[in-house]
Order: sequence, then structure tokens, then C-alpha cells
Amino acid sequence: MSAVVLEAKNLTRYYAVSQGAFKPKVQVKALNGISFQLQAGKTLAVVGESGCGKSTLARALTLIETPTSGSLVLDGQAVDSASSAQRKAMRSKVQMVFQNPYASLNPRQKIIDQLAEPLLLNTKLSAAERTAKVHDTMRRVGLRPEFALRYPHMFSGGQRQRIAIARAMILQPKILVADEPTSALDVSIQAQVLNLFMDLQEEFQTAYVFVSHNLAVVEHVANDLMVMYLGRAVEVGAKGLIFERPLHPYTQALLSATPSIDRGQRRVKIKITGELPSPLNPPSGCAFHKRCPHATARCSTEEPLLRPLLGREVACHHAESINAGQAVTA
Ligand SMILES: Nc1ncnc2c1ncn2[C@@H]1O[C@H](COP(=O)(O)OP(=O)(O)O)[C@@H](O)[C@H]1O
Ligand SMILES: [Mg+2]
Repeated sequence: MSAVVLEAKNLTRYYAVSQGAFKPKVQVKALNGISFQLQAGKTLAVVGESGCGKSTLARALTLIETPTSGSLVLDGQAVDSASSAQRKAMRSKVQMVFQNPYASLNPRQKIIDQLAEPLLLNTKLSAAERTAKVHDTMRRVGLRPEFALRYPHMFSGGQRQRIAIARAMILQPKILVADEPTSALDVSIQAQVLNLFMDLQEEFQTAYVFVSHNLAVVEHVANDLMVMYLGRAVEVGAKGLIFERPLHPYTQALLSATPSIDRGQRRVKIKITGELPSPLNPPSGCAFHKRCPHATARCSTEEPLLRPLLGREVACHHAESINAGQAVTA
């Protein structure tokens, strides 16, 4: 059993949103009580539709934004009680890769300078050592070191994402949070970049939080899966278990809508009806009840909490009865 490098307990993040000039502000509960543990060298994939709070979670985990409540323990150290010097040290242990590599790179700075910057700020390496480290890191992410003197616009989308990955990995962080890191890339490039993530993880034992709206993408990289819906986790557990037999109706619908996943037996296509509700005005009870084919009166009044069932956790009042009699297929 390897060490826990990141632990979130009941993280929330609320935003006050203006509704118009004379109306009071309302709160969006973008993140509404998220808990998990992540071990060194493992990947937690966070999936869910756009707007469910994935990027908000990514920003909280990378200390870009402070959560409204809840706690975060990073490499054994509580973030809340850390001094500003400790927080700075923590920041270099958790790095982020964004969806759009062009936005995260400075268009007017050569690659070598962008990659050397974290080394300049966080290490005592000499200029020559920094250059050597930049070249070495470029090689590891599949870029030729001669390209170091080029500017971001001289690279393809996939190469730019490799540069962003190099920049995130150059300090050898304990944790890498990747927010839709392949969503902006051509399909043919996506698999190469996913393989790069996996190779780097094997080499450095980095723990990943891998955010995606696409279950087919996370299938290859995840150890554990957290399915989010309107700021909450609805199903959490080992990826294999959940892909084999999803128990929450939302997970079932997401999986049935993912065409490249085929486990020998065709899944019955489950259509999610209705729109994703507004987080400004979330439904009472179970946030999914208005779109759920199994919802009862209880679901509209009583919020289901995550509870253990068949080796994972699921937040659904009717998980047993929905799944009763369904054969477990390999
Ligand atoms: N800075 C912000 N101010 C107000 N609302 C925000 C802000 N950031 C995110 N939100 C809202 O929080 C919810 C979750 O957003 P986000 O975390 O970006 O979701 P996802 O990444 O899953 O698409 C959305 O309703 C979004 O509009
Ligand atoms: Mg997002």
C-alpha cells in the first residue's frame, strides 16, 4: 500500500453570482462536499457533464483557489494551517495541466525560458544545470531539445500540450492535476498524449487527478473513478468495478452513451432526458431526480448520501432495487 499524497475532506466552493442590478446575489454551489484519497502513482479520474464542478475541484486541489470549506492534506501536510512559506513549497508539489495548452504558455517567450522558470524560482540549479534539465525533460515528453529556442506558435497542438506537461513535470511534483488535457486535441493525437501521461506516471510515481467529461478517455488512465453531478460525487470507487457494473443511474447513463466502451455485451442505451439543471437553482432531494428513470417521491425530498455498496460508494436511495437481478457480466 503506497502513501496517500492527497486527501480532500468535504471540500466545498461556493460562488456569489449576481442576478442583475437590483437583485440579491445568489450562491452557486459549484463544489458541494467532495472527499477522496489519492495514493502515490495512482490516478483518480473525475468525470461528469460540463458545469458539474470539475474545474472548480481542479483549481481547489492545485491551491489556485481557496475552498469555501473543507480541508485538503497535501503530502501529509494540512493546507489550511500552512504558513505562506509552507504554502509556496506545497505549490511546487502539485501542478496543473490545462485543457488549452496555448492559453497556458506565454506566446512571447521561448520554450527554454518557460520551462526553466520553475527551476529558477524553486531550485538552486545553475544556468547550465537548468538548461540540461530542460533538455532532459523535453526528451522525456517526446520533444527534441533543439526545439527549446522556439516559440509556442511554432508547435502543433499536441506538441504544445507536451510542452505544458513538461512544464508541469519539471519539478517532479507529487501530484499532477490535468483538466481535460486531451479535449482540445485531434483524436489521433489524444492517444499519444494519454500514453505520455501514463509513461511519466510509471517513471516518476506521480499521482494524477485526471478530469474529463469523456469516460472513454479515462478508461485507460484511471485507477479510481469519481462521477460528479452538480457539485457532488454520485459514485466513487475502483474504475474496473464501476465500468463493469455501474450502480448509480447517472453513471449507467453516462456509460451507456460512451460508444467506444464495449465489454462483449452491448449495454442497453439509457437516455438521460431533460437538461442539466442550473446549479443556481438545484432540484431538491437528489439533484438527479428530474432526469432519473427510477425516481420516486422520496428522491424529490430526501438527498441521498454516498454509502458503501458492492465495493464502491454510491449516492442513490434505490441503488439496490434498480440493480437487483442484473447479472454481473465480465
Ligand atoms: N468564478 C466563477 N464564478 C461564478 N460561477 C462559477 C465560477 N467558476 C465556475 N462557476 C460555476 O460553477 C459551476 C461549475 O463550473 P466548473 O467547475 O467550471 O464545471 P466543469 O469544469 O465541470 O464544466 C458552473 O455552474 C459554473 O458556472
Ligand atoms: Mg471544466
